[in-house]
Amino acid sequence: MKRFRFHFWFNASFILLCVSVSSSLDYRLERDVVPLFYNLTIRLLADEAKPNTFNGDVSITLQAVKTDKEIKEITLHSDGLEIEECLFYNESGVLISTIDTNQLTLDRTTQKLSVLLEEALALNENYTIRFKYSGEIGSGVEGLFATTYIEEGSGITKSVYLTHMQAINARLVFPCFDEPAFKAKFQLHIERPSGYNAISNTKQISSSPESNNRYLDHFEVTPVMSTYLLTFIVSEYTARGNESDYAVVSRPEFYDNTEFSYNVGERVLPVYEGLFQQTYKELGNELLQHATTPSFRHNTMENWGLIIYKDAVLVQKPGYTDGWSDKEFTIRNIVHETSHMWFGDSVTLSWWSHVWLNEGFARYYEFFVAHELYPEYQLDQQFVVRKLQHIFPSDAVNSTQPLTSPEESIQTSSDIYFKFANIPFAKGGSIVRMWRNAMGHDNFDAAIRDYLKQHHLGNTEPQDLFYHLKQYWPVKSELVNLDQFLYDFTEQVGFPMIVVNASFENKQIRVEQNRFLLSPGDGSDPNIRYTIPITYTTNLAPDFQNLTPIGYFSKVVDVYDIWFDEAIDWIVFNLKQSNYYRVFYDAPLLNSLQLALHKSDHSGIAVENRAQIVDDLFSFARVGYVDYEEVFQFIEYLSQEVEFIPWYSTYQSLQLVANRLTPDQLPNFAKYLSDITSAVFTKLGASGKNSDSVLDVYNRNQQVAWLCKYQIKSCQEQVQVLYDVQKPIPDYRETFYCAAARTEGYIKILELYREETYPTEQDLLWRAASCTRNYTGHYQNEILSYSRTLAEKKTAISQMYQQNPDLVTPIFIMLSENITQLSEALGSWAETAQVISDLADYFTTREQHQLLSDFYDENHLLFGTSAETLITALNSVESNLQWAQQRLGRLVNFLSLRNIGGATQTKALPMVALLLGLILICIWS
Ligand SMILES: *[C@@H]1O[C@H](CO)[C@@H](O)[C@H](O)[C@H]1NC(C)=O
Ligand SMILES: *[C@@H]1O[C@H](CO)[C@@H](O)[C@H](O)[C@H]1NC(C)=O
Ligand SMILES: *[C@@H]1O[C@H](CO)[C@@H](O)[C@H](O)[C@H]1NC(C)=O
Ligand SMILES: *[C@@H]1O[C@H](CO)[C@@H](O)[C@H](O)[C@H]1NC(C)=O
Ligand SMILES: *[C@@H]1O[C@H](CO)[C@@H](O)[C@H](O)[C@H]1NC(C)=O
Ligand SMILES: *[C@@H]1O[C@H](CO)[C@@H](O)[C@H](O)[C@H]1NC(C)=O
Ligand SMILES: *[C@@H]1O[C@H](CO)[C@@H](O)[C@H](O)[C@H]1NC(C)=O
Ligand SMILES: [Zn+2]
Repeated sequence: MKRFRFHFWFNASFILLCVSVSSSLDYRLERDVVPLFYNLTIRLLADEAKPNTFNGDVSITLQAVKTDKEIKEITLHSDGLEIEECLFYNESGVLISTIDTNQLTLDRTTQKLSVLLEEALALNENYTIRFKYSGEIGSGVEGLFATTYIEEGSGITKSVYLTHMQAINARLVFPCFDEPAFKAKFQLHIERPSGYNAISNTKQISSSPESNNRYLDHFEVTPVMSTYLLTFIVSEYTARGNESDYAVVSRPEFYDNTEFSYNVGERVLPVYEGLFQQTYKELGNELLQHATTPSFRHNTMENWGLIIYKDAVLVQKPGYTDGWSDKEFTIRNIVHETSHMWFGDSVTLSWWSHVWLNEGFARYYEFFVAHELYPEYQLDQQFVVRKLQHIFPSDAVNSTQPLTSPEESIQTSSDIYFKFANIPFAKGGSIVRMWRNAMGHDNFDAAIRDYLKQHHLGNTEPQDLFYHLKQYWPVKSELVNLDQFLYDFTEQVGFPMIVVNASFENKQIRVEQNRFLLSPGDGSDPNIRYTIPITYTTNLAPDFQNLTPIGYFSKVVDVYDIWFDEAIDWIVFNLKQSNYYRVFYDAPLLNSLQLALHKSDHSGIAVENRAQIVDDLFSFARVGYVDYEEVFQFIEYLSQEVEFIPWYSTYQSLQLVANRLTPDQLPNFAKYLSDITSAVFTKLGASGKNSDSVLDVYNRNQQVAWLCKYQIKSCQEQVQVLYDVQKPIPDYRETFYCAAARTEGYIKILELYREETYPTEQDLLWRAASCTRNYTGHYQNEILSYSRTLAEKKTAISQMYQQNPDLVTPIFIMLSENITQLSEALGSWAETAQVISDLADYFTTREQHQLLSDFYDENHLLFGTSAETLITALNSVESNLQWAQQRLGRLVNFLSLRNIGGATQTKALPMVALLLGLILICIWS
């Protein structure tokens, strides 16, 4: 499974977790009865009067395996199924009893179904329990559900029936032992009307005609696998490729648009087969299909042999969704899912408490195997800024979680969804990367091969993985306590920052560690310590390639000292940010790093480290360890930076500060932005060049988005000229149209929007048109128009002020002038309160706070209970104002002084001179 919209999930599941902690019910099954084989028949659309019902018939071969007690009861999972018959057979296939369905007990909370037997089970003998039942074809995205699409051309609505069993939804489709450790073989039979076809995890063996123009399709027995990986799709799809070997399966009209996905999927298999030295077919399934669906819970799901993706992931519509970033998205998803055939499907976590064993590896390979195949995307570098740096804030607050949770703490479905939050993915991938680089790729790959072979078709816990990693770990045991190191980053939450101080005239470097926390005092334990792999390089012999730690900073000592024979000038720790921590340099070291970054080629300092220094500094400023003024002085180095990676970190971090600046402060900020982007914008400009790398394309997009948003003239002029001439490529389209709509292009973008028929492009054009500065016209004539959906209205309003930070106040005044009109347009006061509250997130002045407060006084009665939302908004404006007052004072001064007659030079020069002096003294002494 792969998730992108984690924010919502993270929050929602966290709330659920809090609710469920108090429950002490046992949701888990006993281990004394185990299933071996499921023979499952599903009949779809058998009764026209009941299109949303399916019939099922499942025979489960099982055994009693424990000796210490008499087993007279079989307990398994079932949810929402109507059981009509329950039959029990002995090993010879003789029916021993017909169990009255009234005798079955179902606990609706734990979804455990218990079957009482007349006689105790003999140990290690096969029995078969059979259920005939019916179930619901859901309209959601769980279990067996239906979705539809409109066929291009004919306009006919077509149905697709498909499944999503992860994590515990197989029980919605058949009674089963619905935990990943109960692996068994499955044989599936699907009865469907003619006109449809069925696909499943394995090859279809045969299809037999039934009455009423119906067919029964029989599939091969699956390998031994977990219930959550079973799947089937009944549809009118067609296959690109060979349906009994490798294929992409989709709507017939998508056939021409799946060539790219097909090729990616075909190319990635041999890479994994070489890396793991185990072919896909050796895992136990001959067939691999990638299929698409119009709607799905996640972007993807790794069912063994039949991976399912949302349409948008696999389908590249030429001119619309075939940009570089679209392709990257396709590549990463396919590479991620394909890795699950080994990590997850063949070797499966024993319980969801360590879901990172699936997802951390899949996330890692998603970037690093894709990087081998498609180096032009520089996914090795992108990983650092998009995943590692991105997850740090979530892992520095109380709501985080360890990679490995205690097994008993994960019971309910909401507990399980909490484990599927972003930590197991991004932190998991980061920790895997740290291990692979620390032990060396060859050692790591050898360990993984052993792990995958030993546990083929089995289930594992972190210790099983650690056993193999330790076998191949190259360091002597006295250098590091490996068990401790492996434990520290999997069972503890959070991550450290190392504090680096130079002394003895830059011949000694002293390292200390702390846990990095974003809001100390939020309940997080500040005393957690970690075993820290130390890598560094200096100006004496710069080398950013060797990622093998020179040592490990043990958690039982207070300091880690490094001595040099010569005084060093600069030092960079955590090379390529390969390890999972931040680095805090003392002021002299930071200054010398800035000088080094200003030199040609940034003194050879790796892009990942350039990005790290920026990201770390902003994070330290956020907590108050340094002042934003120093950060902004430091990142003046960017005036010579042209690479995407450091710029990406910069813009991610800058967002928080930029959002807290008042309208009066924006011009100084814009000037600063214009200055530090001089080199990169001169190099890239707004128009594409033949020499562009993929990251240049991404970089141009982010530069234009920022520069035009803050109305930097050169940006606006260049975009204006361009968009008049030609349609921007998909990568830039939204950014450029948005920029154009801000100036003279609004009416034209609206026209394009009206003419467009392709749904995602329509959405894009609507968002772009909403960047207009003509907010009264757009609001009155477009947004309030009856024909817009609620989502379109809300998107447009937030686009207007987010894309025009100086218009926050006038837009608020406009909305509040006739709030009844807005609430009528949005359909409820609750939505209206939410829209106002979202807007108030962008308030930065006392005057705005007063406006909101007056608004509340005048209107709160209208809002009813939703007035609460406004109170919360008022409080959050207040705390934002206080934060800005506390943190941004010096920065604001700096920005304004800087813009009065070249204050940059006068400020920066003495510092540079002083430092040079210091360095000279150091060298001479
Ligand atoms: C599976 O069950 C069906 C009846 O639903 C039966 O006809 C078939 O023989 C069974 N197959 C196996 C392998 O037990
Ligand atoms: C199954 O039950 C039948 C009828 O009671 C009996 O003859 C047969 O021996 C049983 N088979 C096994 C393996 O116990
Ligand atoms: C028990 O069932 C399993 C799975 O169907 C089968 O492989 C095995 O041969 C059976 N054992 C006996 C003794 O019938
Ligand atoms: C499809 O794949 C199967 C299994 O690999 C192979 O036997 C068959 O020849 C292939 N068919 C075609 C048309 O390539
Ligand atoms: C969150 O805070 C509570 C105390 O308020 C503490 O018991 C808990 O361990 C903290 N959780 C984490 C993950 O730090
Ligand atoms: C603003 O938008 C309205 C309606 O869309 C339009 O009539 C008006 O001309 C626009 N004003 C400007 C200055 O573009
Ligand atoms: C507010 O808008 C509504 C239309 O929804 C209109 O009927 C009403 O007259 C307006 N009120 C004011 C004060 O403009
Ligand atoms: Zn996944």
